[in-house]
Amino acid sequence: MSADLTGSSIDGWQVAGKIGEGAMGAVYEATRGPQRAAFKVALPEVLGSDNLQRFRREARILMGLEHPHVVRCYHAGEADRFVYLALEFLAGQDLEAILQERGRLSVPEAVGVVRRVLRGLEAAHERGVLHRDVKPGNVMLDARGVPKLLDFGLAKARGQANITAAGAVLGTIDYMAPEQFEAAADADARADLYSVGCLLYHLVTGSPPYTGRSSLAVLQQHKEAPVPSPVHEGGIAEAAPLERAIEALMAKDPRDRPRSARAALALFEGLPEAPLVPGGSLDPPPEAREESTAGAPRPSCLADLFAAALLLCAAAALGDALLRGTGRPGLPPLPAPFSSLERLREPPFLGALLGLAAAALFWRLLARRR
Ligand SMILES: Nc1ncnc2c1ncn2[C@@H]1O[C@H](COP(=O)(O)OP(=O)(O)O)[C@@H](O)[C@H]1O
Ligand SMILES: [Mg+2]
Repeated sequence: MSADLTGSSIDGWQVAGKIGEGAMGAVYEATRGPQRAAFKVALPEVLGSDNLQRFRREARILMGLEHPHVVRCYHAGEADRFVYLALEFLAGQDLEAILQERGRLSVPEAVGVVRRVLRGLEAAHERGVLHRDVKPGNVMLDARGVPKLLDFGLAKARGQANITAAGAVLGTIDYMAPEQFEAAADADARADLYSVGCLLYHLVTGSPPYTGRSSLAVLQQHKEAPVPSPVHEGGIAEAAPLERAIEALMAKDPRDRPRSARAALALFEGLPEAPLVPGGSLDPPPEAREESTAGAPRPSCLADLFAAALLLCAAAALGDALLRGTGRPGLPPLPAPFSSLERLREPPFLGALLGLAAAALFWRLLARRR
């Protein structure tokens, strides 16, 4: 689709081989110093303004989301004519590739994946973000087999307008809730839950729930056809709880679906699960969670404490100056080890202290926003 960027250097990132291609651009492996990332990159002039907005929105959303089952974004930038996201590198396969290879998953494998997808969605929904494109190609495994939700390119944050021409359908129709193509503006978190139901059906049976001959026919089926049974139509052995879960998630009316991702998780309570990678795991070990945060600068509590202490000193010195200015006795003199700090009560030092405290406040606010 786009020119091969292998071998180029963008904003200090050394771009290596291509590892994926999607609607918005290509994904490469890239390194910057010791950091290794999946580098999702596109040319704004090729993207067009809608997709450029989506790219920026994906960056903002991912930077604000930190969850073991959502791909991490270390860094997002715009440089040398490119826009890019430096994402946590996932060495496993996406579920689309796995389905192509294996046809279908066992019920415990599918239940394990879907639970993790729901947890990732729960975190996104709690922050007011709808994913809107849950499908096999947007769930990937890391090297140990831990599933992660990715591709927030079509996601929408609460209060933000749709980035699309009126009437255009966003997302992949095989997994799309009826209200998402009928009244996209009204669709809420329950539309993502419908897609999870379709994903689950596909994982256990090997095909998406509706396979009409045209896009229009598939949309019509989402709207009107009965929810397919993985046992009767999908040919899997009797699995009543699974059937009930698909039935609930894929209810035509969002009011008949679980209210939230958390409520949807209850549908899978007590069901056995299994990792997709032999000897692998569905959850990162606690120490890996720590490691996975090592790639990106994390907000530092120590720096926050330092800034708070500086602010406190500045507030005390200002209060002291104001009291003295109105003729009242200021704060008592400082004890011996701190007596050299007495100078902070004098105007030039007081000004510098206030400036420093304001800068520290600004610095911490900025660090926490990133
Ligand atoms: N963090 C990652 N690590 C490894 N491969 C990735 C990563 N993110 C995406 N990919 C690969 O690139 C493909 C496209 O990425 P995606 O974010 O879905 O882009 P698009 O919006 O273009 O669909 C994915 O299906 C996957 O195969
Ligand atoms: Mg994708």
